[in-house]
Amino acid sequence: MPQIFHRSANGIARFVLWGAQVAFLLVILVWTGLVRSEFFTEVARAPRQPVPFSHRHHVGELGIDCRYCHGGVETSASAGLPATEVCMTCHSQIWTNADMLAPVRESLASGEPLRWQRVHGLPDFVYFNHAIHIHKGVACETCHGDVDDMPLMMRAHSLTMGWCLSCHRDPEPNLRPPAEVFAMHWKPPEDIERVRKSLIDVLGIDTATMTDCYVCHR
Ligand code: HEC
Ligand code: HEC
Ligand code: HEC
Ligand code: HEC
Ligand code: HEC
Repeated sequence: MPQIFHRSANGIARFVLWGAQVAFLLVILVWTGLVRSEFFTEVARAPRQPVPFSHRHHVGELGIDCRYCHGGVETSASAGLPATEVCMTCHSQIWTNADMLAPVRESLASGEPLRWQRVHGLPDFVYFNHAIHIHKGVACETCHGDVDDMPLMMRAHSLTMGWCLSCHRDPEPNLRPPAEVFAMHWKPPEDIERVRKSLIDVLGIDTATMTDCYVCHR
């Protein structure tokens, strides 16, 4: 029988077939890696803002309390963003001619609010509530990271369901006395484990129901 392919073609065909399979596996590995990576979950990326507002400067250096600008955080589901007038309580007197602040002055003059780009955002089918977490001893820092070190705001955590559940399954190690929830770089006291145990009772945290689907999908 005449040989159409050279003997070595078999080897090549096998090589190509195996190669294709290995390449396929690699693509899957890289893809799932990427989907879980910071690139897709948008951790550690700061969006462009109309004004390069710095939490490092205003919180870390000037020491302004979160509630001065995010007034809803203790009382409602959303923390809210500050109105232009809040910036102007200071910037009508300091840095009044800075180019960087021109959009703030224009916003005050026109009455058009500044269009801040959202850094965090959950899908509509997820229910979240700031006030509950604040009153139950979960700190800003625990979910938003070292805000006072951020020249531009960025996400510290993925906000995936897995991330929420990692705490809801076992909240105790993440708790602190509610008076400390606004503090940054908080140092737990020596007897923190005892404190955390008692917080579960004192604050009435119901660990049995916290992972029920309806808590976050209602
Ligand atoms: C002087 C006002 C001011 C203070 C004080 C302040 N913030 Fe902000 N914050 C802003 C502004 C303006 C934005 C929107 C621009 C941006 O994302 O940087 C913002 C955005 C944020 C965001 C992201 C919102 C989003 O788009 O998802 C978080 C989280 C946040 N602040 C947390 C904090 C925490 C925690 C503190 C206290 C430790 C704090 N902020 C104090 C003004 C302030
Ligand atoms: C409690 C007073 C206060 C409030 C409220 C305030 N700022 Fe400032 N801001 C300052 C001071 C003080 C400086 C520093 C000026 C300097 O460096 O000499 C500053 C500096 C800045 C700068 C210059 C860049 C930097 O960070 O060094 C920007 C931009 C700015 N602020 C934006 C804002 C915006 C936007 C708001 C409202 C969301 C706001 N500020 C609210 C006090 C305030
Ligand atoms: C249990 C985690 C958690 C804690 C604690 C927490 N946040 Fe948030 N924060 C979130 C999530 C999740 C979002 C996105 C909410 C959404 O998209 O509906 C968010 C959004 C925000 C926003 C954007 C505006 C808004 O309300 O959606 C600001 C500002 C903010 N947080 C500030 C704070 C401050 C200040 C504190 C502490 C007093 C705090 N957060 C504590 C998880 C948390
Ligand atoms: C670091 C810990 C922590 C993280 C992260 C966290 N939570 Fe919570 N959450 C708590 C605690 C503690 C409570 C209080 C539970 C209680 O009182 O029984 C709570 C309560 C809630 C409640 C109210 C439940 C009720 O009683 O009505 C909702 C809704 C909720 N969380 C949603 C979320 C969502 C959505 C995320 C993620 C985006 C999230 N949480 C992330 C700790 C956390
Ligand atoms: C503590 C809050 C919380 C609880 C409890 C929770 N989820 Fe979620 N769920 C989320 C968040 C946050 C997202 C959005 C994730 C994202 O955007 O990546 C989500 C997304 C989803 C999605 C969309 C697909 C996906 O993975 O993004 C489904 C389906 C879902 N949840 C089902 C459930 C079911 C079923 C339960 C009960 C066994 C449950 N969830 C309990 C917070 C929660």
